[in-house]
This record gives sequence, structure tokens and C-alpha cells, in this order.
Amino acid sequence: MPVTNFSFPDKYQYLNGFGSYHESEAIPDTLPIGANSPQRPNHGLYAEKLSGTSFTAPRSENLQTWVYRILPSAAHLPFELDTSYETPKTLHQIPRQLRWDPFDLDDKADWVHSLKQLGGVGSPATKTGLGIFIYAAGASMPPQQAFHSSDGDMLVVVQHGVLDIQTELGHLLVRPNEIAVLPRGIKYRVDLPSGPSRGYILELHAGHFKLPELGPIGSNGLANARDFQAPVACFDDAEYAPGSWTVFNKYDNQMFSATQSHTPFDVVGWHGLYYPYKYDLGRFNTIGSTSFDHPDPSIFTVLTNPTADFVIFPPRWLVQEDTFRPPWYHRNTMSEFMGLVMGEYDAKTGGGFRAAGASLHNVMSAHGPDADAHEKASAADLKPVKVGEGSMAFMFESPLMIGVTDWALELCRKVQPKYNAESWVPLKRHFKRPE
Ligand SMILES: [Fe+2]
Repeated sequence: MPVTNFSFPDKYQYLNGFGSYHESEAIPDTLPIGANSPQRPNHGLYAEKLSGTSFTAPRSENLQTWVYRILPSAAHLPFELDTSYETPKTLHQIPRQLRWDPFDLDDKADWVHSLKQLGGVGSPATKTGLGIFIYAAGASMPPQQAFHSSDGDMLVVVQHGVLDIQTELGHLLVRPNEIAVLPRGIKYRVDLPSGPSRGYILELHAGHFKLPELGPIGSNGLANARDFQAPVACFDDAEYAPGSWTVFNKYDNQMFSATQSHTPFDVVGWHGLYYPYKYDLGRFNTIGSTSFDHPDPSIFTVLTNPTADFVIFPPRWLVQEDTFRPPWYHRNTMSEFMGLVMGEYDAKTGGGFRAAGASLHNVMSAHGPDADAHEKASAADLKPVKVGEGSMAFMFESPLMIGVTDWALELCRKVQPKYNAESWVPLKRHFKRPE
């Protein structure tokens, strides 16, 4: 039996649970009982399957959803290349530590045209690697346009403004300090109810995010499964003029578009495991040391995938004794792309890492606290202290080298040329040979 029956005014209610089998219908008796694709679906709908994994993927990884809609997705004219969208030609693999000033807001571009690729590796065509994007949108998408990425799941970190995302499966309202995951292929359109919005996107070319295993932490902690929220079914049954809808399709990092005569947001009911969801980073249960030293930052992992982890640095208490409390200096086989949603990141107090900016410490690029943070931390009185109050830094951490685009290096005009010179070159020598 259907477990959910929400009508249109309740469109911002959510289904709770990560990896849970969800079902939702906007009209009673939409979802069939028994057969997923009955001879005549209820209410004269079409049954359509959306596959997020191969059919034969193990049950623990298999993500499929059945939708019951007014017209099938296939009813559209051919996709044509949109030459106005700039596809990055080169990903520069360079070992230099990079940091960017806050990326500009844009008061004109809509979601589709605001996507700027900052970096990436691999290829959507071979389902390898990832892409990192900055979006800065100032306009809602036109009412009869929709978008989807064929290249992978997009994890969106909202830094500024609010995204009202109408997806095929229902609505997600996503605010700063929240993230949304928009799976490959699911169509959506983005409205900006509070004006311009800006943020960061990690696109996985392969697989999907999972919650990290908890091991000795036990059965709760970090991001709890029940705090992930999926939309409820919500549909539009209006009839539209022939060819009046445009659907954009990001395909191998090129933009294509096709026209159709019906809305893609006509799903009256759905059930399955493949759906968009959102998560409020403020609900993260932060775990840390109560004796000495820092655990590895993996303790802050929200979502994981073999290609990249999504890690946050939320407000938290530091109580360790005899410990250099900022993150240690290190070199890492992983690449680390960091962004800041709000506030000041506790490991970078020199002012160069600002909200809406970013940094990239690629594979084996040495980094750590800047000289200012080192001086303060070395002299600090180690009382319990709360760090990161009003702040939310995050990291996309990947075992792959992250190449950067011409936009990232030059066109955005945000690269800080003196990042190394100002951060670590001023570090002083304190060594004293014992007498
Ligand atoms: Fe690091």
C-alpha cells in the first residue's frame, strides 16, 4: 500500500531517510500494487523506469525508481548541441597550491548558464573521475525550461541564496548550510526565491554517495540517516503549446537542448531508491578527540564515494591537551578542494580563505595552517574552546589529481597569486639545538 499521500500545497514536506525505499503519490491510488508496470497504470498514466545503477548491481547498491507520469520522457524532439555553453577544453594538472577569492555573484545568469567548471579529472564518457563547478545564478530558470546532467550525480553546496529545485520527483528547498544531491538524469528546474544564489558543485562521474561506515563509533553519529530528506510527489497537469518546453542535457560536459510539448514535471507518483535528496549540515553529529591529537579529518565525512568524499568542518569543541589544535602540516596522496559557506575557518586565520572562496591542495601538495594560525595556536592556552562558531568549511577530497580549467586559473580573476608567499613562506624557524 502507498505510505504517503501529499497534495500539492504540501510540496515542501519530505520523506526522511538515507538509502531508504521511498514511495510517494500526489493522488491516491496512483501507485500500483504488485506489478510495477501494469497493463493499464491507474489514472491513465504511463509507467517509466529510471535506473541509477546497472540492473544487475548488488542489492546493496542497486538504485532504481519507477515513476508514473502523464507522458513518457521519450516524447521530445532530438537533442541539439547548444554552442553558447562553453565546454572547458583543457584541465591543467599542476601541483601548485591554489586559493581563490570569493567568486562573483551574477545577477543575470540562470542555473544552467551559471555553471562554471573549476576543475575535474577523468571523463563522463567513460564514467571515471569527477567535476568541480561553481554556480552563481541571479535569475530563476524560465518557467518552461528544465535541466539534467547525464554526466553524474551533482552534490550542491549552497553558499548564498536559496534554491527552490523542482524535480521530477518533487520539490527541494535548499538554503545555505544545506546540501542537495541531484542524481544523474533526474530533471529539474531551479527558482531563486530570495534572489541570487552561489555555491559549489561536486559531480561524480561514477557511482553514488553513501554514508560512511561508523565502525567503533557505533550505530549513530556523523550524518544520521534520518536527517536526509527526499521530496514528495508533486505534478503539473497543465497542457502546453507545441514545442514550448526546453530540456537541457549536460552530456560529456557539453550542453545539449531539446524541445517538447509537455512538462517533464508530470510525475504523479513514484517509488524506489533513486531520488534527489537534501541534508542540513547543522544536523551533523561531530565526533572528536577528548584526550590528545586530532583524529584524521575523515571523522568529519558526511558522504563518501570511491571517487570523492564530502567532508565538513562544523562548529565544535576542542578540548585536547598538549596538542597543536589546528590541523597538522601534511602532504596527502589525496587532493583536497575546500570551500567556505560562512564564517571563518579555524585553520586559516590570516583572512585569505573567505566565504565563497576556495582552495585546492592537490596530490602531495604540502599545506597546513598559515603562519598567523601557527603563531596563535602555538601560544594558545589549551582550555576547552569552541571553534568554527558561525562557520562551515567543507572539503571535496579525492584520490585523483584534480586538473583546473582556464576559467579557474585566469578567466574568473580570483586566483590569489601570493597564496604560498603569504601563507607558509613567513613561517619562522624555532629550532634550537640542545646545548
Ligand atoms: Fe589537508
